[in-house]
Amino acid sequence: MPSDRASTRAGYDAIAEAYAEHFRDELAGSALDRAVLGAFAELVEGAGGEVLEAGSGPGGVAAYLHALGVPVRGVDLSPAMVALARREHPGIRFDVGDMAALDVPDGSLGGLLAWYSLIHVPAPELPAVLGEFRRVLRPGGHLLVAFQVGDDVSHQDEAFGHPVSLDFRRLQPDAVAALLEAAGFDVTARVVRTAEQASRARALPQASMLARRP
Ligand SMILES: C[S@@+](CC[C@H](N)C(=O)[O-])C[C@H]1O[C@@H](n2cnc3c(N)ncnc32)[C@H](O)[C@@H]1O
Repeated sequence: MPSDRASTRAGYDAIAEAYAEHFRDELAGSALDRAVLGAFAELVEGAGGEVLEAGSGPGGVAAYLHALGVPVRGVDLSPAMVALARREHPGIRFDVGDMAALDVPDGSLGGLLAWYSLIHVPAPELPAVLGEFRRVLRPGGHLLVAFQVGDDVSHQDEAFGHPVSLDFRRLQPDAVAALLEAAGFDVTARVVRTAEQASRARALPQASMLARRP
């Protein structure tokens, strides 16, 4: 496993319980997040097929979609996150896996979302990861990505009182849109909000972007 994946996995293994507690009420406090996820739920219903959350963490976002009737499952690099998500959401399937090499047949998914998880992918690997997302989506399938906006990489060597080595890569919407188009997606919508409008727990400018496999 590449060293960045190993440290991301170890970091999220260490903070899984604290992270889940900290972000537990985040969606309840963010009308914009719920609106975007609600739109995605309607779009993927039209596309048909299963939906995958890549980087599902504690599973709260997958659970929100599940409650809207979306046939969603999750995959995450961190075994501790997967164990926690399974415990908290026993009606949803969660597996350990890497979004760069999904154990999913070509063209099989109606939707895929990467909700604040692409931020851990090193920039040179983003084209390949987006290519992997395109591979697993069926024609007409929808992709939703969410990320903090910026140009820097924020390195943390401590989180929730645990020693970690985690890189959080801010991204620019124009750059993500260009990468999506280059990977063979049609970008269909962007929501960009100021730090003031960002949800309390992620007080940075934030973006979410919808794209479709033609
Ligand atoms: C900031 S958390 C977001 C979790 C969840 N989507 C949410 O919004 O609550 C990022 C998650 O992505 C996972 N992750 C990072 N890189 C990954 C990769 N290459 N493949 C799968 N999961 C990954 C981490 O283990 C972590 O659980």
